[in-house]
Amino acid sequence: MNSPTSIYPPLSDSPIAGITLQDVTLQRGRTRVFDGLSLSLHEPRIGLIGDNGAGKTSLLRLLCGLDAPQSGRVAIGGTDIHSPGQPGGQLAGQSAGQNRAALVGLMFQNPDDQIIFPVVVEEIALSLRTRGMKKSEAQQAARALFAERGVASWADRAVSSLSQGQRQQICWLALQAAGPRVLLLDEPYASLDLPGQARLAQDIASADQQVLVSTHLLSHVRGFSRVIWLDQGRVRADGCGVEVCAEYEADVASRVHLPSH
Ligand SMILES: Nc1ncnc2c1ncn2[C@@H]1O[C@H](COP(=O)(O)OP(=O)(O)O)[C@@H](O)[C@H]1O
Ligand SMILES: [Mg+2]
Repeated sequence: MNSPTSIYPPLSDSPIAGITLQDVTLQRGRTRVFDGLSLSLHEPRIGLIGDNGAGKTSLLRLLCGLDAPQSGRVAIGGTDIHSPGQPGGQLAGQSAGQNRAALVGLMFQNPDDQIIFPVVVEEIALSLRTRGMKKSEAQQAARALFAERGVASWADRAVSSLSQGQRQQICWLALQAAGPRVLLLDEPYASLDLPGQARLAQDIASADQQVLVSTHLLSHVRGFSRVIWLDQGRVRADGCGVEVCAEYEADVASRVHLPSH
């Protein structure tokens, strides 16, 4: 697999970091979201599907360190994601935040939860700076990236002037530019138009990293070698995309009886 664009510095490590969850319990507010969840995630592309409230976002938040489990362990590439500076962790020596950012990044479902800067070019430049580029170099590279994508005029626009779908595209570019070893995408297709969806699907297919995608648009994960169907915080089915998506669709059809025309 090739990097989608030449402006990105090369990835520092082997592509598949590998993720392990051991007996994880997560409480969010009054909800016990996960109760003893264990998963071993080593495939390059993994889809997460399931009804609203099934736990897809919670799982992604756990994996990127935004939420900590009450018990159990989450490790990426052998490093405990909730205390990544521990001796013995492969990235020990850097700060915990840097360790985590190099390992894993999340594209939020709502772009406004992710974007920090008011001007578009700054957002991408920040990601590139976390990989060691100097400020001016990062700005130049960010502009080159927009030009390459045919959206050079976005660079100097206010983030607030972009549509939701355009902001989602900025979030994806920022995550790619940051270049962590594991990319987590939470319903990334939700606001994208058809060309945007096609471009994102292409980018995902050609990314060097391990990619986890939660989505309700099953066509985007049906071809993955692994899809996990979450149901009320439990794994209802786990296997190749074609089979798991079909199982979920059959279950939905049995629950929702649409009037026939
Ligand atoms: N901020 C929150 N505070 C408390 N409970 C939450 C919060 N966010 C989600 N939940 C609960 O956690 C469960 C899993 O939600 P979530 O992970 O968002 O599901 P999904 O992404 O699959 O729709 C649901 O029961 C939901 O109500
Ligand atoms: Mg969600």
